[in-house]
Amino acid sequence: MAAEQSKPKGPDLTRGVPLDQLGEGAMVGGHVGEDAVLLARRGNELFAIGATCSHYGGPLAEGLIVGDTVRCPWHHACFSLRTGEALAAPAFNPMPRWRVEQRNGTVFVREKIEPAGKGAPGKARRQSTQPERVVIVGGGAAGFAAAEMLRREGFSGQVTLFSSDDAAPYDRPNCSKDYLAGNAPEDWMPLRPLEFYKEQSIELELRAEVAAIDAQARKVTLADGRAVAFDRLLLATGAEPVRLDIPGADQPYVHVLRSLSDSRAIIAKAQTARRAVVLGASFIGLEVAASLRAREIEVHVVAPDRRPLERVLGREFGDFIRALHEQHGVVFHLEETATAIDAANVKLKGGATLPADLVVVGIGVRPRIQLAERAGLKIDRGVAVNEYLETSVPGIFAAGDIARWPGARSGEHLRIEHWVVAERQGQTAARNMLGQRQRFSDVPFFWSQHYDVPINYIGHAEKWDGLEIEGDIRARDCLVRYRRNGTVLAVASIFRDLENLREEAAMERPS
Ligand SMILES: Cc1cc2nc3c(=O)[nH]c(=O)nc-3n(C[C@H](O)[C@H](O)[C@H](O)COP(=O)(O)OP(=O)(O)OC[C@H]3O[C@@H](n4cnc5c(N)ncnc54)[C@H](O)[C@@H]3O)c2cc1C
Ligand code: FES
Repeated sequence: MAAEQSKPKGPDLTRGVPLDQLGEGAMVGGHVGEDAVLLARRGNELFAIGATCSHYGGPLAEGLIVGDTVRCPWHHACFSLRTGEALAAPAFNPMPRWRVEQRNGTVFVREKIEPAGKGAPGKARRQSTQPERVVIVGGGAAGFAAAEMLRREGFSGQVTLFSSDDAAPYDRPNCSKDYLAGNAPEDWMPLRPLEFYKEQSIELELRAEVAAIDAQARKVTLADGRAVAFDRLLLATGAEPVRLDIPGADQPYVHVLRSLSDSRAIIAKAQTARRAVVLGASFIGLEVAASLRAREIEVHVVAPDRRPLERVLGREFGDFIRALHEQHGVVFHLEETATAIDAANVKLKGGATLPADLVVVGIGVRPRIQLAERAGLKIDRGVAVNEYLETSVPGIFAAGDIARWPGARSGEHLRIEHWVVAERQGQTAARNMLGQRQRFSDVPFFWSQHYDVPINYIGHAEKWDGLEIEGDIRARDCLVRYRRNGTVLAVASIFRDLENLREEAAMERPS
């Protein structure tokens, strides 16, 4: 899924494209010299921006124009066609822009437009109503995105980002995918190099555990006893893996996977391991299975479910996922649970014993809400927030895996564990901490990767009474709609990225 470094394809846009070949909302992917460039039309306006998504290199020309933005087909990042700005995660870096000229019915892409200098004024200079000190607890998806957005919005006050992790914010989804499989180098993992935090005056404190929040006195206390005052606080403490409660679960070859150091520990063990048992057929469990197969380790997956991922994606998808993993040599032990781990053996309830020199437990996560709970914030199977992501205490916000917010469409209160949701909530919370009143109304999106099969999912359907399959799941060309009372709640697809984006745009429209 990484950016291809090959020569850009398509027409040389400096030579011109006939205007009548560019219909309303149309895009052409081409090049200007060595740069891949996207030429797009919206009404009478024409735009040229970089064509290769600044997240993982997705082809923007295969995405969707919505208003004056373009959305990436791979993981739905959204860029302004006007300014190139990465308006919505998972991309953060802006796209370069080119000047466009229209002459005698032909559109020419001219020279690159130099980006505004580093000292350019931010969008929102600090006003007297704005906070001076923002503290963010959690250096994951939501925490990082919030810190980055505070500066992008021109906030010049103090930003402190406390993270109990020992690594600066990184690409957590990759911890179970290419990185674990050995196909992604170390330098893909940080979301930003360390210099970024210095340049942006973001005080990033790693290995810094926030132990308490005094909501009234407006300060947090760290585990080392330091107290730090805030005007606005963002809680983005994420989730922690559920631990296995069976004899032998504390053996050194039994791992969970949440952090980069967890991923590194599994990689270290995988150097010598020959047989792995993955407990749990969750997305993470199955991605781990795929990555360990890429390392040619024998993999057994044990799970209580009848089919992997059936609860989230349905029976047909579940059968496909099982067959896909079996084609790659994974052995499933379904409707089974582990009862003990002993002398490099995993014992199953049904009586079988699976030898394993590596065990990975992927049986779900719990939101880390203890801090919020102790601070007296309202809890509702997560930290309760309003549509602006503000908790029951004004000035204290929550985002990401811990936040339960009122969904814009179903009216249900949702808590969702997706990377892009967490990042976008961090971005929205940042704007709202600066006094904007932006509702969080994004349609949830996640992706998962199994070997060469990406699954894209939008919306949220905990239960459905109708499942409609367009195309063929087994042929890896499908769009599956999950309906309740006739309404499409969610859509999952394989290699139907544009349609997935269209479904997302449709869900955003008020019904
Ligand atoms: C291996 C893996 C693969 C995944 N793959 C996908 C995927 O493909 N697609 C997808 O949509 N989602 C995926 N997810 C889920 C996604 O990563 C999470 O939903 C997302 O990271 C949540 O973001 P967050 O900011 O809420 O929490 P996190 O990213 O978990 O960050 C929480 C941070 O808070 C810190 N912290 C916690 N408590 C404290 C404290 N008291 N003081 C200071 N710091 C604290 C932690 O150290 C951590 O840095 C994956 C998750 C994992 C673990
Ligand atoms: S490659 Fe574009 S959003 Fe991921």
